Amino acid sequence: MTAGRTADLWWKNAIVYCLDVETFLDGDGDGCGDLRGLIERVDYLAGIGVSCLWLMPFFPSPSRDDGYDITDFYNVDPLLGSLGDFVVFLRTARNRGMRVVIDLVVNHTSDRHPWFRSARASRHSPFRDFYVWRDRPPEEPSAAPVFPDAEKSIWSWDRKARQWYLHHFYAHQPDLNIENPSVRDEIAKIVGFWLELGVDGFRIDAVPFLLEAEGNPGDVPLDPHAFLKHLQAFISRRRGDAVLLGEVNVAPKALRGYFGDTEGDELKMLFNFPVMQAMYLALARQDARPLARSLERLPEIPEDCQWGIFVRNHDELTLDQLGDDERLEVFEAFGPEEDMQLYGRGLRRRLPPMLDGDPQRVRMVYSLLFSLPGTPILFYGEEIGMGENLAVEGRTSVRTPMQWSDEPNAGFSVAKPSRLRRPVVEGRFGPMAINVAEQRRDPQSLLNWMERIIRRRHETPALGWGASRVLASGDHSVFAHRKDWEGTTVVLVHNLASEPRSVRIDVDPPPGHHEVVDLLDQGHAVIAMDAGRLELKLEGYGFRWFRVEEVGGRTTP
Ligand code: GLC
Repeated sequence: MTAGRTADLWWKNAIVYCLDVETFLDGDGDGCGDLRGLIERVDYLAGIGVSCLWLMPFFPSPSRDDGYDITDFYNVDPLLGSLGDFVVFLRTARNRGMRVVIDLVVNHTSDRHPWFRSARASRHSPFRDFYVWRDRPPEEPSAAPVFPDAEKSIWSWDRKARQWYLHHFYAHQPDLNIENPSVRDEIAKIVGFWLELGVDGFRIDAVPFLLEAEGNPGDVPLDPHAFLKHLQAFISRRRGDAVLLGEVNVAPKALRGYFGDTEGDELKMLFNFPVMQAMYLALARQDARPLARSLERLPEIPEDCQWGIFVRNHDELTLDQLGDDERLEVFEAFGPEEDMQLYGRGLRRRLPPMLDGDPQRVRMVYSLLFSLPGTPILFYGEEIGMGENLAVEGRTSVRTPMQWSDEPNAGFSVAKPSRLRRPVVEGRFGPMAINVAEQRRDPQSLLNWMERIIRRRHETPALGWGASRVLASGDHSVFAHRKDWEGTTVVLVHNLASEPRSVRIDVDPPPGHHEVVDLLDQGHAVIAMDAGRLELKLEGYGFRWFRVEEVGGRTTP
């Protein structure tokens, strides 16, 4: 019996669900989602099998970057509720068996944060050195701005301060100076505050930018790894099993360092951007090789650590790690119109519209998500196949209100549509066609399929814990891989092509007579294997999960 072991490093096999409080459910009818609303939907989330919620920023903010521009790290935006509501939410989530991770956005603050207001007002402000200043901007800046449509440089002139300040993101998001020990103390205080309230960890925003300290003249240069080790040690002292999940979009080779030494004493989890991008290339080409290659290129990671796998997140679907031609191929396949593209590197779409709503293909992609190495991270609405609203500006096209029903405002709010935080999706992927209420009633819906596959995922810990190996399928369109853990072998097969395929997969089990048990929809079908080889017919975009068992061994459901 091995399931008991999995509770220890809980993040290795969680189902994470990311949501923005302001677009989830409006509990007080003002047009903006809030904690009161979210609390009412905690049971819905537990029912899907979500085991960890990741809340996007809910702190006081002028919201010029949808809450990633914070003015008070120790509070809840009054539009969303109070600290009291937050604790009720935490308590409710925990009671239903869910952990809660929150965003830690400390690369920068809003320019309206009291620290920045004070810093720019006087060179003698105790907060002046919380930010990074120069009398003249460097002739060759260390980086280009992250949002090239809005900013020309990472340095801007501040008229009040009469100096230039650093900002990797928008100019209204001045970078904090992490080389300043007082800033690092403040970060620890923020983390300590939320841990004390009961959160289970943090999704750290923009990690490479946070660590890329430029400092002020005279600052002692920061050792970024020492900083991450201290932070991880600090959170472990305060709360043993709290985790740091890092947003680190860098090349595969550079990723390993962020996990720390052999024991993994820095970030416990990293989003896997390279595999996500390669997956889209593989889908566009209907050829599994880019995905297989990207998995093979991944570094080995410490036992305690895990990848965070995702299909979509709240930002543009970035394809910045693909070659220029490859990116164009993905654009061509999944977002050919200019309005669907962003910053020349990404798509501002959700998955189902990219796949023209093909239900079989959508399920195949989520089956991949639940079976690739790592912990799957869902973005709200993915479980029902929500689309985007391209009429909503920039990256927020994918952050529209959750579609609960076909009632006005998708059942998200009783406010007048004009008062909604953001308009709902219209047309084919809008609430009349895609909503929770209807999908609950339909056993064949995506929502009910998600629930079933998530249950299977929980029951198959080898998927999160096992060593992964790509298997030859004899067909470039078919991606086959196996996971091995504690004597269990699981084989996963995905046909990325629209046409049916017949494949022979060399599973290479240990000596003995084996059979394979179908883990998904086909009931409890048992298929014989011949000399360690599995012969299969897959429909277009078909997928299968199998457990390999010795004939006569113990049967599990
Ligand atoms: C991260 C977030 C993004 C935000 C940026 C600045 O990349 O994912 O939404 O705009 O950081 O905080």
